[in-house]
Amino acid sequence: MVLDVGCGDGMSMMPLLNLGHHCVGVDIKLQSLVGFKNDLDDKECLLNIQNNVSLWSQTTSVNANTKLIGNEKDKLNMCNSSMFDLVRWDLRYGLPFKENSFDLVISVSFLQWLFYGPWQKQLESFFGSLRKVVALEGKTVIQFYPASVNQVENTIDIAMKYFKGVLVGDYPHIDRGRKLFLILF
Ligand SMILES: C[S@@+](CC[C@H](N)C(=O)[O-])C[C@H]1O[C@@H](n2cnc3c(N)ncnc32)[C@H](O)[C@@H]1O
Repeated sequence: MVLDVGCGDGMSMMPLLNLGHHCVGVDIKLQSLVGFKNDLDDKECLLNIQNNVSLWSQTTSVNANTKLIGNEKDKLNMCNSSMFDLVRWDLRYGLPFKENSFDLVISVSFLQWLFYGPWQKQLESFFGSLRKVVALEGKTVIQFYPASVNQVENTIDIAMKYFKGVLVGDYPHIDRGRKLFLILF
């Protein structure tokens, strides 16, 4: 099972779906999630949106009627058989899934958003909950665009409380707009 954090319209999840992995996408923006679903319809994909309650039913912090797709269900035309689930959720509050749910977590160009507002608390919630939801043998790959060296250092400090990992950079010599990959295990 794969989790795509900040999945947007599903661009990064699509290759994994095509390889036959069951994926869960989480994003705050309903529009992106709906766009993803419509795109799939346009391409006549046989994929559907599933309300897989078992994923979050054991978490205490989630109110399924308000925070998850819940009331918007009809718009998304959920059904019960599919290869993916889409969850609407504000990731500043961490990940709303039960423990050991995922073998692989990916996140493309999302993490930097956690630096708006009380970033320390948000990063702690994020990495703390990530440690719980990814299986012990699981892997996480997070690509992000830090705005400063401080952001990189703060991210590493907090992530390393919960994981071991490596940081790989595309353009090591530039400070801003630098594309980094944080690989956690
Ligand atoms: C640059 S887009 C990347 C989308 C996708 N991962 C991709 O590669 O195409 C960043 C995504 O993060 C989502 N996002 C930003 N802040 C968020 C939050 N607090 N909770 C959940 N999703 C958030 C946005 O809605 C957006 O879809």
